[in-house]
Amino acid sequence: MRVLQNEPLQKRNSLRLQSIARAFVNVNSEEELRDALLWGRNNHARVIALGQGSNVVLAGDLNALVIHQATQGREVIEEDDRTIVLRVSAGENWHSLVQWSLSQGYFGLENLALIPGTVGAAPIQNIGAYGVELSSFVRSVQALSVSQSEQLKLSASQCCFAYRDSVFKRDMQDQCVITSLDLVLSKQPNVQCAYPTLKSYLHQHNVSEPTPLDIFNAVVAIRSSRLPDPATCPNAGSFFKNPVLDAAQFRSVLKRAPSIPHYPQADGKTKVAAGWLIEQCGWKGARVESVGVHSEHALVLVNYDCDDGRRLLALADDIKRSVFDFSGLELEIEPRVYGLE
Ligand code: EPU
Repeated sequence: MRVLQNEPLQKRNSLRLQSIARAFVNVNSEEELRDALLWGRNNHARVIALGQGSNVVLAGDLNALVIHQATQGREVIEEDDRTIVLRVSAGENWHSLVQWSLSQGYFGLENLALIPGTVGAAPIQNIGAYGVELSSFVRSVQALSVSQSEQLKLSASQCCFAYRDSVFKRDMQDQCVITSLDLVLSKQPNVQCAYPTLKSYLHQHNVSEPTPLDIFNAVVAIRSSRLPDPATCPNAGSFFKNPVLDAAQFRSVLKRAPSIPHYPQADGKTKVAAGWLIEQCGWKGARVESVGVHSEHALVLVNYDCDDGRRLLALADDIKRSVFDFSGLELEIEPRVYGLE
C-alpha cells in the first residue's frame, strides 16, 4: 500500500473538477483497505472513500485520506433453482456487473444498465432507474468501520433504503468503507417495463413481450439519447432529487403548476419531476460561463470548462431559487458535496 501526498483528483471525478487530496491510496483488497484505515487513524486523517467519483461534487481541496476502492471480485455464494446470490466486490464497475449478470442468465438488474460508478457506491444513494431500485436486490452490504476496521454486515433493512437514500448518507456517513454487496438475482426473467419512457420506447419499437435483454437494450438506448456521457461531457447525472411530497404539499404545488408530471408512491406520498420544474423556469440548455444545464435533460448540470466546483454549486443555487419562486419547492442536491469545509 502506497500513500500518495497531494494527489490531484480532477481525473478521478466525473465532473472533472479540480481538487487535491492531502493523502490518497488505491486499495485492491480488504487487507490493503485495513492498512489504509490504520494509516488514517495513525495520522488523524478524515477518511473519504471514492469509487469512480461519478456522484460527487469536489468543491475544494480535501484535507483527508481519500481511499480509492478498486477491489475486484464476483462470486456465487448461494444458488437454488430459482435464485442466485452473488457477492460482488466494491471496486467492480456497475455497468459491467449488469452486462455480465445478464449474460449468465441472472436477471433483475437490466433496468439499471449504464449507470456510471462502482458497485460499492451503488447502495449509498440506492441507485434507481426506469422503475427499479437497487434495494430490491440487496441481501446485505459488507463494510469495514473507519474507527476500528471492524467487519460490518448490514442487512437490507439495516441499510434503511429509500428513494436516493440509505443509512450510508445518514447515521453511517463516512463511518465505514463498503467492501462488497450480496445481491439476490432471479434465474427466471421478471421484466419491469411499466416506467412511462421505457414502455413507450418498447411500443415504438414493436417489442410486445420484452426479454431482459430487450429491456437492457432499451435502457441503454434511452439513457444514451437523453443523458450526457461523462467521458465526453463532464456531469454527475441528476444533480437534484425529485421532491417527494405529502398530500398537502402536493395540493399546493398543483395550484401553481397543474401539469407537473407526478408519480404516486407506495407510502401515499407523491414524487414530482424536478427536471420539469427546472425546464419550466427556463434553465434547460442554459449556459453560465463555463457550466450549464444539459440541453436534453434539465436535471443534469454539465461542466463545459470549469475547474472550480463552487461555480457549479452557485449555478445550482440559482436554479433552486428559481424553482422555489415558481413552485414553492426546495430542491435538494443529489450528489455528495466535498471540500467546502
Ligand atoms: N422532464 C422534463 N424536462 C426535463 C427532464 C425531465 O419535463 O428536462 C420530465 C419528463 O418529461 C418526465 C419527467 O420529467 O415527465 C421524468 O423524467 P425522466 O423519466 O427523465 O426521469 P427523472 O425523474 O428526471 C429519474 C432519475 C434518473 C433516472 C430516470 C429514469 C432522479 C434524481 N433521477 O430522472 O437517474 O435515470 O429517473 O428512471 O431520480 C441519476 O440519478 O443520476 C439519474 C440519471
